[in-house]
Amino acid sequence: MKEKLQQILETTKKEIEAAKEMDQFEKIRVGILGKKGELTKVLRGMGKVSTEERPKIGKLANEVRTEIETYLSKSIEGLKKKEKELRIAMETIDVTMPGNDNMLGKRHPLTTVLDEIKEIFIGMGFKIAEGPEVETVYHNFDALNAPQNHPSRDLSDTFYFNADLLLRTQTSPVQVRTMKASDPPIKIISPGRCFRVDEPDATHSPMFNQIEGLVVGKDITMGDLKGTLDILAKRLFGPDTKTKFRPHDFPFTEPSAEVDVTCFKCGGKGCSMCKKSGWIEILGAGMVHPKVLAECGIDPEVYNGFAFGMGLERIAILKLEIDDIRLFYENDMRFIEQF
Ligand code: PHE
Repeated sequence: MKEKLQQILETTKKEIEAAKEMDQFEKIRVGILGKKGELTKVLRGMGKVSTEERPKIGKLANEVRTEIETYLSKSIEGLKKKEKELRIAMETIDVTMPGNDNMLGKRHPLTTVLDEIKEIFIGMGFKIAEGPEVETVYHNFDALNAPQNHPSRDLSDTFYFNADLLLRTQTSPVQVRTMKASDPPIKIISPGRCFRVDEPDATHSPMFNQIEGLVVGKDITMGDLKGTLDILAKRLFGPDTKTKFRPHDFPFTEPSAEVDVTCFKCGGKGCSMCKKSGWIEILGAGMVHPKVLAECGIDPEVYNGFAFGMGLERIAILKLEIDDIRLFYENDMRFIEQF
């Protein structure tokens, strides 16, 4: 029996050495140590062994078993290691392979132009103010001195929720909110979305962005307004740009003006961009109406100020030479990527 055990040990070791794959190891293990395995068979035959020999044989059988088990697990470990090394060798990085193209997003042209405008005003000491897009009729019209019969109040021009609530048609209600909430001096711009009933076409959109400006203090003049807008125009459209004020009418400013800039494409000579006039209209402005100041709790005898408002899309369309306002809202990467 001793010899038999010794022999099992020797042949199994050889088999293990010859094995090259994981399932071969498993076969060997079952063949020797399994229920019907060779070693198991030998142990079953222990009954025939004499009582004196039995403990010795038993001990030897256990030793053979442990030795085979250790030998097996060592070999399995070895094979695993080899397989891993092989895998790593095969995984080496080929630095000459072309990389994966990660598509990076791009800033929307409206954001780029808005940031540029914000930067210009922040440089002049303005702060950014914001207000709600769902406004009261009071803030959007009444407090801004809009007469009851003003055409902009019309149901066909303004989106109403009810008699008191609407989608703001301009960013001017932020003037009202700011004046009510703070004491002069006030120097703010307020960018944001506005809404007007309009069929979308190349130049109209029921949703668009305005940037309102408001300055309130002591002894503010039309000259201050012109100086401020001159800086804006020169920074936005180039250092040779000139501004022109044309008389206009807004309920919340007196006097009021529409402001044109010299055409940055032809320098004022007249081209298709400026419809041969040499001038391009960019915004509305004026001195804040005393009634508006008073309504907002500011004494018009002590303070005065100016306000202006421009369409962000209009500025971006001019600067970037875009021919359809709807392109801004379609989020087609082929459009956005051009700027
Ligand atoms: N809110 C005006 C508009 O939408 C623009 C404006 C703003 C005019 C401030 C004067 C002063 O047309």
